[in-house]
Amino acid sequence: MKQDMILILDLGSEQNPQIAREIRALGVYTEIHPHDISQEALAALPNVKGIILNGGPNRVVDGVEIDAGAHVYGAGIPVCCADHKGGKPWPADEGQRKKALEDFVFGACHAQANWNMENFIADQVELIRRQVGDKKVLLALSGGVDSSVVAALLIKAVGSQLTCVHVNHGLLRKGEPEQVVKVFREEMGANLIYVDAVDRFLDKLAGVSDPERKRKIIGAEFIRVFEEEARKLEDISFLGQGTIYPDIIESGTKTVKAVKSHHNVGGLPEDLRFELVEPLKMLFKDEVRACGKALGLPDSMVYRQPFPGPGLGVRCLGAITRDRLEAVRESDAILREEFQKNGLAGKVWQYFTIIPDVKSVGVRDNRRADEWPVILRAVNTVDAMTATVEDVPFALLQHITERITHEVKGVNRVLYDLTPKPTGTIEWE
Ligand code: XMP
Repeated sequence: MKQDMILILDLGSEQNPQIAREIRALGVYTEIHPHDISQEALAALPNVKGIILNGGPNRVVDGVEIDAGAHVYGAGIPVCCADHKGGKPWPADEGQRKKALEDFVFGACHAQANWNMENFIADQVELIRRQVGDKKVLLALSGGVDSSVVAALLIKAVGSQLTCVHVNHGLLRKGEPEQVVKVFREEMGANLIYVDAVDRFLDKLAGVSDPERKRKIIGAEFIRVFEEEARKLEDISFLGQGTIYPDIIESGTKTVKAVKSHHNVGGLPEDLRFELVEPLKMLFKDEVRACGKALGLPDSMVYRQPFPGPGLGVRCLGAITRDRLEAVRESDAILREEFQKNGLAGKVWQYFTIIPDVKSVGVRDNRRADEWPVILRAVNTVDAMTATVEDVPFALLQHITERITHEVKGVNRVLYDLTPKPTGTIEWE
C-alpha cells in the first residue's frame, strides 16, 4: 500500500467530512468509518497511522453515550479524542485547526503526505483485486461521472472479470449512449453489454403524465432490465457501485454503514444481491473527477453537468411522446453546443431544455402552424437546495432561439426561465 491513512471514527460529529477534507488537503489520505468498527475490520485497513474520535452532541444515542471498542484504544496507534474524555474540540478558527491537525497527523502519528491520485488508484487496484479474487463483477454503467469512474477503475483492476451493462432507456441526451460504447468498449476494451431498451421504456411510459409515476416506472423498469441481463450471466459474485462520499452524507445517517440500503441498484431481488465493490465511497466529487481524469476518461465525461436519473423523461412534461422527446433531445444538444462554444459550459452548473405539453400558434412558411415552445433553463448552485439563474447574454439567447426554431422539428418559440429556486425548482417536474 502506497499511502498512509488517518482513520476518523464517526461518533456522530457533523464536522467529520470537513476534518477529512482538511487532512486530505495536508496530503494525507483519510477514511471515515463507523465508531463500532470491529477489530478485524480495523486490522484490515492498510497503513493506519492515527485515529481521530470526533464526538459532539449526536454522540448520545437513545440516552447512551456511544464509544469505540477497547481494541481501538489498544491498537498501538495514536488516538486523538476530540471533544471527548478530556480531549479538546477542534479549534473553530481554520488556521488554528490546520495547525492542530498538522500537529496530530505529522507530529504524533508521523504520517507521510503521500496522498495523490496516482497512489490512490494504485491502492484501490490492489484492494479491489484482494476483494474480488478471481470472481466476476457486474456494473450498471449509466455514463454518469460516478459509474464511469468506477468502470475505469474496475477495468484497470480486474478488467477481464468485469461486465458492464449500459441500458439505453431512450431518455439519454444526444450522443450519450454512443459515447459510452465508444469510450468503454472501443477505447478501454471493456466487456460491455449494450441494451437497447428504448421501445420498452417508452411503451411503459405511454400516456403516463404524473411526474412521480414517470420516475417510478423509469426506476423500476431500469432494475428489471438490469436484472434480466444479470440473470443471463453466470457466476457473478460482485456488484460494482458508484457510491461516493456525498451519497453517504445525504443518506442522513451518522455512520457509513447506511449507504448500502440507499444506493442506485438497491432494488434487485434477494437471489441477486451481490457483494458490493464501492471503491469511490470515500471520495468527494472533485476527487472522483480527478480520479477519472487520471484514469484517462475524456473531459466531456468527467466534467459532465449533473443529469437526473429519469433523464429527459422529466423534461418532456406530462405524458411523453416520441416527437416531443426528440425535440427536447435536439434542443438540448443545441443549447449544450452553444454553451460550449461560448465558454459557458464549464461555468454554468446545470443547463438544459424543457418542452411543455402545450402548443401555440405561430407562422411557418407563410402559414399558421401550431407548434411547441422550448424552455431554456441555466442555473448555478452549490448544493442544489437553492439556485440562481445564469445571466446569459441576450445576443446568445437570440442566437440559440434562431437555431432551435429553425433546426428542431415542431418548435416555434423559445422562452428563457428567469426563476430562481425557490420559488421554482431546477427541473420542471
Ligand atoms: P430540483 O428540480 O429538485 O433538482 O431543484 C435538484 C437537482 O436534482 C436533480 N434531480 C434529479 N436527479 N433523479 C435524479 O437523479 C431525479 O428524479 C431528479 N429530479 C431532480 C436536478 O437535475 C437537479 O440537479
